[in-house]
Amino acid sequence: MIGKNRGFKSCAGLPALAAAILVALQVPAAAQDPAPSGGKDEPVKSTARPKAKTKAKAKAPARNDPPGFYMGRPIADVMSWEGADWLFRETRIQEEQPEAMLRSLKIPAGATVADVGAGAGYYSIRLARKVGPKGVVYATDVQPEMLRFLRENARAARVANIKPIRSTQTKTNLPAGTIDLILMVDVYHECTDPEVILQGLLTALKPGGRLVLVEFRGEDPEVPIKPEHKMTLEQVRKEVEPQGFTFKESLEFLPWQHVIIFEKPREPGDDKKKASPATTKKAQ
Ligand SMILES: C[S@@+](CC[C@H](N)C(=O)[O-])C[C@H]1O[C@@H](n2cnc3c(N)ncnc32)[C@H](O)[C@@H]1O
Repeated sequence: MIGKNRGFKSCAGLPALAAAILVALQVPAAAQDPAPSGGKDEPVKSTARPKAKTKAKAKAPARNDPPGFYMGRPIADVMSWEGADWLFRETRIQEEQPEAMLRSLKIPAGATVADVGAGAGYYSIRLARKVGPKGVVYATDVQPEMLRFLRENARAARVANIKPIRSTQTKTNLPAGTIDLILMVDVYHECTDPEVILQGLLTALKPGGRLVLVEFRGEDPEVPIKPEHKMTLEQVRKEVEPQGFTFKESLEFLPWQHVIIFEKPREPGDDKKKASPATTKKAQ
């Protein structure tokens, strides 16, 4: 059994991490989100992510894909908790502009949201501040170590409205029909069982609730992330829409990532109706 602090000691950089988070989260949003210019040219400190040791059991291949593939693309290894400090790297503010990304989603105070694949809470803490004390953030992860870091970080950031949930690769463990918005940042491509997870997310959302996938652009060879950790918009839509979600839009103002927004239909069958042409916004 891992003791309360052992995880931190064995994960280089994490003691400094809580302090870094506090500093990062107390800087005014405007100062944290510089204009995208130049972001692409900045080298990423490390794009090599340690793989989680507990690999999901091999699943029956979906749609004749070879093991480890889904609808023609490789499924990435789950990023290990041992690399959690990478999730709080200083350059992430420039690379991902987390506050601007969250602002673009126009999440109202009091909303019930889920940060699925929350890691150590980089986005959960920001979400918690956005929804305020009357709102709630369910923060899920398949790795208990990540949830332990998340709890520590939430405590250090003094937010009390995050509910950590241990999930599995086939069960979200989110309460059904209660969520206004589900955010998955840099997670979907790691899901070993996308169809099952998407069905679970659909069940968790309220009718009209949104699923937001933030993924590194697979179309752009300049984005310095391993190919299996990137996704094209076309591939995401090909995988998500057949599971009953309606594509709303893709926001394209971040230096490296798509912000892809889907909706749970309000009425059964609404996803089959021809919606107004889906938009792909270049800038906010
Ligand atoms: C690259 S990290 C991103 C963490 C966090 N979203 C962030 O941006 O800081 C991916 C996380 O997703 C988690 N994960 C992978 N598959 C998952 C699944 N099916 N359900 C929940 N969490 C998952 C991993 O354990 C890991 O913590």
